[in-house]
Amino acid sequence: MIHVEHLTKRYAGRTAVDRISFDVGRGEIVGFLGPNGAGKSTTLRILTCFLSATEGTATVAGHDIFKDSIAVRRHVGYMPENVPLYTDMRIHEYLRFRARLKGLGWRESRRAVEEAMDICALADVRSKLIGTLSKGYRQRVGLADALVNKPDLLILDEPTNGLDPNQIRQVRELIRQLGERHTILISTHILHEVEMTCGRVIILHRGRIKASDTPKNLIRRLRDAGAVRMEILDPPADTIALLERLPGVKSAAHIETRQGWACVEIRTDSLVDVREEIYNLAVAKRWKLRELTRHQASLEDAFVDIIQDAGKDG
Ligand SMILES: Nc1ncnc2c1ncn2[C@@H]1O[C@H](COP(=O)(O)OP(=O)(O)O)[C@@H](O)[C@H]1O
Ligand SMILES: [Mg+2]
Repeated sequence: MIHVEHLTKRYAGRTAVDRISFDVGRGEIVGFLGPNGAGKSTTLRILTCFLSATEGTATVAGHDIFKDSIAVRRHVGYMPENVPLYTDMRIHEYLRFRARLKGLGWRESRRAVEEAMDICALADVRSKLIGTLSKGYRQRVGLADALVNKPDLLILDEPTNGLDPNQIRQVRELIRQLGERHTILISTHILHEVEMTCGRVIILHRGRIKASDTPKNLIRRLRDAGAVRMEILDPPADTIALLERLPGVKSAAHIETRQGWACVEIRTDSLVDVREEIYNLAVAKRWKLRELTRHQASLEDAFVDIIQDAGKDG
C-alpha cells in the first residue's frame, strides 16, 4: 500500500528525513514513532503530497506521489497534526464541503457525510458550530474528514494529541475499528496506544529509521526486559547470591529496607518468569516473603532503549 525508497527531505541546510525506506502492506496498522523533531510529520506530509521531497521515491496505492498526486489523494485519508477547521461552519456543512472538494457528487457526499458522522459519533452534534467544539470533538471532525471519501489508506498524524485519557481511549477504540477496513499509518507518542492497536512499529530518530518490527519483538530484543520485585523479612547474607544462581536471572540487587522488610529487584531475560523458582527457593530456605511481583517491559521501555542507543552513535 505504501512503498518508500531513500526518501530525503532537507529544509534550508537541515536534513529532516534522511534516506528512509519502508513498506506498509494492505490491511496493516503501523505505528510511526519517534521523539519530537524526528521527522514523522515531514514524512507523512510528503506521502500525502502536501510537501515535496528532496530525493527518493515513493508510491501510495500504486501511484507515484510525485507524478500522480491527484490519484494518491483519492486513495488516502489524511489527518494532519493541526487539523485546519473552519470555525464558523457547522459540522455537517463542513464535512459536506470537504466531501465535495474531494470530488464526491452531491447525492454521494450526503450519504458519505452521514456515514462518517456515524462512525465518529458526531451525529448528535451535527449542527454545532466547529468553533464551539471541545478539542476531542474537533479531532473527531478531523477524523471524519479523513474518512469521508472512503479511502483505502488512513494517514493520521498524532490524532490523540491534546486529548484527555478518556477521549484518548475513545479515539483508540475508533482507530481499532477503522483498522478492520483500512490500512493505517499513525504517528503518535502515546506508546501504550500503539502497543494495543498496531501490528508493527517503525521508529524514527533524527530522520532515520532505527527499528521496524512488531511491538512484541521490539520488547523481546530489549536487554534485561524482565524483572521481579521481592520483599523479604530480615534477608540472610547469601540471599542475593542464591537468587543470582537461578537460571534466567541476570542480576539481583537490594534496593531498600523498611522495618526489616528488604526490597530486592531481580533482573531476568526477557519473557522469562522466575517466580516459581524463587518461591521454591524461599520454601527451601524458609524465607519470609510478602511480595513477589513480575514486571514486564513495555513498548515504552523498548522505545527508550532504542532512542538512547541511537543517541550514543550520534
Ligand atoms: N517548514 C520547516 N522548515 C524548516 N525546518 C522544519 C520545517 N518543518 C519541520 N522542520 C524541522 O524538521 C525536523 C523534523 O520535523 P517534523 O517532521 O515536524 O518532526 P516530528 O513530526 O517527528 O516531530 C525538525 O527538526 C523540525 O524543526
Ligand atoms: Mg509531528
